[in-house]
Formats: sequence, C-alpha cells, structure tokens
Amino acid sequence: MEELYRIKFGYCYSNLYLIMIFLVSMFISRSYMLSSKPTPLIKGFISSNTCGDHFPKECFCGREKYEDQNQYIVNCTNAGLTNTSILKNMPDNTQVLIFTGNRIKELPWNVFGAINNYNYLEIVDMSNNQIQEIRGKTYHHVSNVKRLILNHNNLTISHDSSDVNHHHPRVFSNFINLESLHLTNAFADYLSPALSEDLHDIFVNSNLTKLQKLHLEQNEISHFKDRKVFCDLPSLRDLHLGDNLINEINFDVKCLKHLRFLDFTRNRFEYIKAKDLDLLDNLELEPNRTSNLIVDLEFNPFVCDCRIIPLQKWIQTTAVSVRNKETLTCFMNQNSEHILLAQYGKCMAKSEHTDENHRTSAFLVFLLIVLSFTLVGLLAALVYISRDRLKICISPVVTSISRKVQYSTIKNEDYCEVMV
Ligand SMILES: *[C@@H]1O[C@H](CO)[C@@H](O)[C@H](O)[C@H]1NC(C)=O
Ligand SMILES: *[C@@H]1O[C@H](CO)[C@@H](O)[C@H](O)[C@H]1NC(C)=O
Ligand SMILES: *[C@@H]1O[C@H](CO)[C@@H](O)[C@H](O)[C@H]1NC(C)=O
Ligand SMILES: *[C@@H]1O[C@H](CO)[C@@H](O)[C@H](O)[C@H]1NC(C)=O
Repeated sequence: MEELYRIKFGYCYSNLYLIMIFLVSMFISRSYMLSSKPTPLIKGFISSNTCGDHFPKECFCGREKYEDQNQYIVNCTNAGLTNTSILKNMPDNTQVLIFTGNRIKELPWNVFGAINNYNYLEIVDMSNNQIQEIRGKTYHHVSNVKRLILNHNNLTISHDSSDVNHHHPRVFSNFINLESLHLTNAFADYLSPALSEDLHDIFVNSNLTKLQKLHLEQNEISHFKDRKVFCDLPSLRDLHLGDNLINEINFDVKCLKHLRFLDFTRNRFEYIKAKDLDLLDNLELEPNRTSNLIVDLEFNPFVCDCRIIPLQKWIQTTAVSVRNKETLTCFMNQNSEHILLAQYGKCMAKSEHTDENHRTSAFLVFLLIVLSFTLVGLLAALVYISRDRLKICISPVVTSISRKVQYSTIKNEDYCEVMV
C-alpha cells in the first residue's frame, strides 16, 4: 500500500517537473520572439551551419540532387576562404566537393588530412581559386575520385620559371581511379611548348591509367614540344584542345588506341595539311578500334583558297566523323564567311587569279614602265650628246629637201611658163 502511494507521488512529481520545464522554455522562447531584432540563437537555428563549427556559414553540407543523383555535397562556393583547412573536417560520407571562388595561393601537403578516408568522394571541383601551386604530396586519400576539376587557376608546373621548383611530377599519382581531368585555363601565362614537357612528365609519373577525358582548353597552346605528351594516358578517349592556338597536329595521336573525340574548335587552322588528314584516316582505320573517331573543327579561321581543297575532299570521303561538317565555314577575307563545302567549284575557277599571279603581273607591269622610261631617257641623252654630228648629218638632207622643193617649184614655174 505504502509503496503504491510512493509511486503515485513520484509520478505526480515527474509530471510537475515536465510541466515546469515546458513553461520555462515557453517563457524563454517567447521573450526571444518578442525582442525586435532576431537573436543569434534563432538565426543560428534557421540558417543552421550545415557543415559544423569548422566551416564558414557560406558553406553548405547535405544531400542534394547533383547530376541526376542524390548525393552528399560539401559546397564552399565564394566562401572567402584563404586556406584549405576545412577540407580536413568534411563529413566522411562526402561524395561531391565543390570548393570554388576562394583565394588559395597554394595547396599544401595532405589537403584532405593525413588520417581521413573519404571513401565516397568522387568529384572534386577546385576551380577558380587562383591556385598557383599544387604540392607533390597534396592529394592523398583520393583513390575513389573520378573527376578532378582545376579550371581557371594560375598554376605553374615548370622546373625553371624561377628559383623555386614548381614541378611535382607525381602530383596526381594518388588519383588511381581518375577518369576525367579538367585543366581549362588552369595554367599561368606560359610558354606552351614547355608546358607539354611538364605535362608529359606528370602523366608518366602519375600513372593515370584510367583517365578517359582530358580538358586543356584556353591554355594558349600553339604546339607541343613533346610529341608523346598524351601517350602515357592509355585509356584516353576524349581530348579537348579547343580555344588554343594550334594550326597543325604535331603530337602523336597514333598511340591513343581508344581516342574517340578530338576537339580542335576555336584554334588557328587556316587549312589542314595533307599529313594531318592522313594521320586521322590512319587512326580511324586502325584495327581493334572500339569506336568511331569524331573530330570537331568548328570556328577555325579556314581560308577559302585552294589550300582548302584537300580538306573539302577529305571531309566528303573520310570514315572519320567531322562534327557539323555542313556548317563549317571559311573566310574569303576578314568579313566574308562562306560555307566551306560550297567553295569547291569557285576555287577551281579562281585558281588562275590567285594572289600570287596578281603579284607577278603587277611586278611585270612595273618593270615594263621602268624599262620604257629608261629607254626614252637613254635616247634623249644620245640625241643630246651627238647633237653636233646629227646637225652635220641632217643638214645635207635638209638642204637637199629644200632644194628639191625649190626644183619642183622651178619645175612648176617652168611648166607654168610652158603652159602659158
Ligand atoms: C554551390 O553553392 C553556390 C553558391 O551558394 C550555388 O550557386 C551553387 O549552385 C551550388 N552548387 C551546387 C552543385 O549545389
Ligand atoms: C585558415 O583560414 C581561417 C579563416 O578562414 C583562419 O581562421 C585560420 O587561422 C586559417 N588557418 C591557417 C593555418 O592559416
Ligand atoms: C598568377 O601567377 C603569377 C606568378 O606565377 C602572378 O604574377 C600573377 O599575378 C598571378 N595572377 C593572378 C590573376 O593571380
Ligand atoms: C599504375 O597503376 C596500375 C593499376 O592502375 C598498377 O598496376 C601499376 O603498378 C601502377 N604503376 C606504377 C608505376 O605505379
């Protein structure tokens, strides 16, 4: 009996406690609500720092739809960060890291920490961070990353640009499953031929055996000093070289057994050399190829003169797919753009009046005029020098003529006299 009583009492007390706690919390939150300016506590709850204390509030962490998949994203875009220390504190289940628009001069060793295992991390986007240098031991624990994006940075990767060594050939060596590497506008103003050597060295030493897509647009590449620059990327399928200064294929493509897309848009091709056309044909005809080769040549400054004929013929006969071949254009002069494939007949008719012919005939006319003037001058000089002798020679003629005239007048007179 006594025991039952105590239980009932205890029950009552605990109810009382709950009610009191409820009332107190109501009071506290009411007083916060009533205060005119929003308090840090409430604000903190609303825009809650989804990434935890180590991150600035501009960062977002959580599940979101990314490329048609629900993925765990850490997004620190324009977060005003000047170092990468937060990257050591990401949630373990992070799948996509977007770290762009910050100001990071240098990526340090072990940017993801020495002990973390970001086993789910597949996409790393570090674009637009003004990064100048990536240390050789920057990337560890990235064995599952499939895509690395370093677009729009200011990287230096050479041995000799200054007294500092920026060349770390094993910089991507831990990306053993990397499939896609984006280096669009990634490098500091750079002598492009040297860039190819440094890149090749990185490709050799980083063992990127699974890399399929490489983006090197907007890097002011004019040619590759190292012809084998891409040969150590055995799985390479798509090579993006758009927006550069290339005017011939001076790198080895034959070594790329899986190449299926070659992007040369917005380069400096005025025509395409016969050897390059052969190169592409041979690549396409290579046995054991798994897919058709596609070449994109759009927006090059092709010139509508007779050097374009081999390209026109090639486009119509090759087994290589030329992307948008019907709309490719060439230029007669700077402002007159024409459909490249429609220029065939005109060019044949025009071939007699090529620029070179024009130049030759103009020169001949000039020569003729000069020679004529010289001749006239010489003649005048000759006449002047031998004017005395000429007088002697001419005077008998003159006198004889005048005499003849006299004679004839006399004769006439005679005749007249006779008549009269
Ligand atoms: C990342 O954050 C920025 C700025 O908050 C936003 O514009 C962008 O869409 C976000 N990206 C993704 C993939 O959520
Ligand atoms: C990194 O940047 C944060 C601010 O974003 C700063 O508080 C911290 O001290 C910096 N760490 C280093 C090592 O510079
Ligand atoms: C890029 O890096 C170079 C040094 O390598 C520096 O002089 C230049 O100011 C940097 N440019 C930008 C936009 O950060
Ligand atoms: C390169 O990677 C492949 C597998 O991805 C591995 O078998 C090979 O040993 C690696 N080579 C070097 C030099 O690390």
